[in-house]
Amino acid sequence: IELSRGKRAVEHRAVKARDPTPVEELSPADVFIAVKTTKKYHHTRLDLLLDTWISTNMLQTYVFTDGEDDRLRKRMGSHMINTNCSAAHSRQALSCKMAVEYDTFISSGKKWFCHVDDDNYLNIRPLVKLLSHYSHAHDVYIGRPSLDRPLEATERFGDSHTRPVRFWFATGGAGFCVSRGLALKMSPWASGGNFMTTADRIRLPDDCTVGYIIEALLGVGLIRSPLFHSHLENLQLVSLTQIHHQVTLSYGAVDSKRNIINVRGALSLDEDPTRFRSVHCVLYPDTPWCSALTWY
Ligand SMILES: *[C@@H]1O[C@H](CO)[C@@H](O)[C@H](O)[C@H]1NC(C)=O
Repeated sequence: IELSRGKRAVEHRAVKARDPTPVEELSPADVFIAVKTTKKYHHTRLDLLLDTWISTNMLQTYVFTDGEDDRLRKRMGSHMINTNCSAAHSRQALSCKMAVEYDTFISSGKKWFCHVDDDNYLNIRPLVKLLSHYSHAHDVYIGRPSLDRPLEATERFGDSHTRPVRFWFATGGAGFCVSRGLALKMSPWASGGNFMTTADRIRLPDDCTVGYIIEALLGVGLIRSPLFHSHLENLQLVSLTQIHHQVTLSYGAVDSKRNIINVRGALSLDEDPTRFRSVHCVLYPDTPWCSALTWY
């Protein structure tokens, strides 16, 4: 007990030294969490999230999909939003969903908009802690770029006039957040049907379009956070001791080799191939189905 208390005191100091004092008292209820999915993945991807992190964040999580599903409707009620967008994985379909996410966030009145994909685990405690270091009324765009350089694109105005543009964007696959203050400023390019028109202007996917509006059009810089993780990075590098502090996690495969968080537990790779159930049991050991497991 002495040892762990000492260790905790040290960790606490370390965190304190690293983090500035919170500028805003924030609770999970202040955050609007948008999960982008498609009907094809309701069973294979979304059920896993509903069994794990969404179950502890039902009140502020909204799922944006493209098809009706009685089973999902029963589980989520009005928090399942059928965008009526195409189910294709096309640039237009993705932008169509982001447009609905944006409009739903604006009408929610919440302080922060956070977007994740259906292969992300979102850890609400470090998320709220991170966001509490910024004011929701200021211009804040926070996430992780997937490129090591700014994106170079071409803005099109009408049929003939074009202009090169360079900007950073937070990759949607790692999740990102935007403050309400900044989201309101995005309105001319993002609200109603405007997001799709803006996406067409640079012919890039939804997450790039968000970066374009914020960095290139509004002149607000992306704040990089290493606490967001996508399947585009080596997830084995996230250690078990760091898991409590990470905002998002993911899973995927590279050349048919699994790219997953390295967490051992009672569940085998076959039982928990994404490791999200095991991560959830590390973070929320009191979850009934976790405490029923025998850990080794
Ligand atoms: C999708 O279509 C249904 C049925 O017409 C409608 O009730 C719903 O509001 C639409 N969703 C959006 C996000 O517009």
